[in-house]
Amino acid sequence: MIRKTTLGLIICFTIGLGHAQTKIDPKTIADKMHWFEDAKLGIFIHAGIYSVNGIDESWSFHNKKISYADYMKQLKGFTLSKYDPATWADLIKESGARYAVITTKHHDGVAMYDTKQSDLNIVKKTPANRDMVKPFFDELRKRDIKCGAYFSLIDWSNKFYPGFLKDSSRYEVQNDYDRWNTFRMFFQGQITEIANTLKPDLWWFDGDWEHSAEEWEAEKVRRIILSRNKNAIINGRLQGYGDYTTPEQNFPVTRPPFNWWELCMTINDNWGFQPQDQNWKTPYEIITIFVDAVANGGNLLLDIGPKEDGTIPDQEVNVLKELGAWNKKNGEAIFGTKAGLPAGHFYGASTMSKDSTTLYLFVPAKTVGTLMIKGLDNKIEDITVVGNGAKLTPKVVGKISWSKVPGLVYIDLPENVQDKYMTVLKVKLDKPVKLYRGEGGL
Ligand code: GLC
Repeated sequence: MIRKTTLGLIICFTIGLGHAQTKIDPKTIADKMHWFEDAKLGIFIHAGIYSVNGIDESWSFHNKKISYADYMKQLKGFTLSKYDPATWADLIKESGARYAVITTKHHDGVAMYDTKQSDLNIVKKTPANRDMVKPFFDELRKRDIKCGAYFSLIDWSNKFYPGFLKDSSRYEVQNDYDRWNTFRMFFQGQITEIANTLKPDLWWFDGDWEHSAEEWEAEKVRRIILSRNKNAIINGRLQGYGDYTTPEQNFPVTRPPFNWWELCMTINDNWGFQPQDQNWKTPYEIITIFVDAVANGGNLLLDIGPKEDGTIPDQEVNVLKELGAWNKKNGEAIFGTKAGLPAGHFYGASTMSKDSTTLYLFVPAKTVGTLMIKGLDNKIEDITVVGNGAKLTPKVVGKISWSKVPGLVYIDLPENVQDKYMTVLKVKLDKPVKLYRGEGGL
């Protein structure tokens, strides 16, 4: 469940069972998840009228920081005057991301695409006077990047939706089922329309916490989507009818026990463009967080918040470019790999080739001293520095000939072969990794 205070901060977040566990048998979804599993990096885009004043997306009026009327005045200032979907797609490609997820409609109900279900869309109601999503998806597809549609189930602007301001409701669903049904037909109509016209590869629902699976008719929503594209992937915010889990902002400390998960995270502290928020994460921080997610079997969905004119803030462009340069050099240790060693064997992040015969060890820049691997019951054939080619020689320490306990592997990493952000060592093994996980002794 997610709740925000008037400061727009998340005060409570748990990966509720509804988000974590799908009601669908994982075997039936495994096939379509392959690309997602290998993709590792997605770019999230929160573009909406909230970028005009630079305030919290939708939450600002819901939490009464601004009146609804003033919030909606932003429609008049949303121009997309410098919007070039090809530039966005180029930047995303350059970052190394394999998919992008864009807001088709946030909780404020303003559709960013040309919906026929309501006039509250940027084509009709803003000077932009154009569909933002369709041309972007076209550009992504040209570059072989998968297209994701963020869609808020909540629609605080729709008069048939029961909630509006945080402490008020228009009506209770159980007291007015006809009205709720009218809303249901509307939002399911938009989903059908998006499925037919934009054909997303991935659906990123949000706001499921305001109603139950029965009330949203989550199973039917899933059916609407899959009947049009049986390979469409659905995130875990559909009250148990999604395919994967979506922890938000908070990174896991222990490895999440899910087949598929994706950490969604902002580059500063907000999803949308907010000029006063200068709390930028550095490229080093972003890269280490990304690596940590991948090492634990997850993806990172990294958010950017374009301005109302369709340009992307410089700091975000810089992070995506730096991340891209790092991925270009080190990508073999990321894309198409799987989660690395379990905790305890190496004090840092690691990944593995799919066949488990190659280990990738991630070492933060400017690490001095030797690295150590514990409990590795394999012969090491070769160690190289990824993207640099330098060969390193391991030293096995403390191997007792008559004991089954493997020795400790020490690796000296000279400073001159290190990456400016994070160095990757490629450790080729004689056979699939075999780990000793005992407590020592004989
Ligand atoms: C939350 C918020 C929303 C944001 C989303 C991204 O659920 O309600 O503002 O778009 O997280 O994950």
